[in-house]
Amino acid sequence: ASERTLSIIKPDATRRNLTGKINTKFEEAGLKIVGQKRIRLSKEQAEAFYAVHNERPFFNDLVSFMISGPVVVQVLEGEGAVAKNREVMGATDPSKADPNTIRAQFAESIEANSVHGSDSLENARNEIAFFFAQTEICP
Ligand code: CMP
Repeated sequence: ASERTLSIIKPDATRRNLTGKINTKFEEAGLKIVGQKRIRLSKEQAEAFYAVHNERPFFNDLVSFMISGPVVVQVLEGEGAVAKNREVMGATDPSKADPNTIRAQFAESIEANSVHGSDSLENARNEIAFFFAQTEICP
């Protein structure tokens, strides 16, 4: 079925001017970018977005990293978009990511791993609502 998922192009990637190359990977996989904006996350927003990880040892570093530069938040739409996006991103740890995935090609480290994608349809709905008003999504 057609789904939507939330994607974030992270500060390591915007810093290296990789937005277009990453978007090409999504589009070549059949995902349509139906909403997109480049923003600076506040500390409060980053903490709230990653609240599920707030007990993890990497939480503070992750929040600092996510506010270190602009991010591009996006809504991707297509058949099985949640799983398809995860396939295109590759494993969280770039050293374990399949060749030709975004993280294998572009990520700098497990933290600076270039992209975030929702891990389930339910989280996708919540994460899209976190960043986008209905009027900002244009299928
Ligand atoms: P993301 O998919 O955005 O979800 C949580 C993020 O935490 C992850 O990508 C990484 O950027 C970051 N992170 C940093 N260290 C780790 C780690 N050891 N394991 C998992 N995620 C990590």
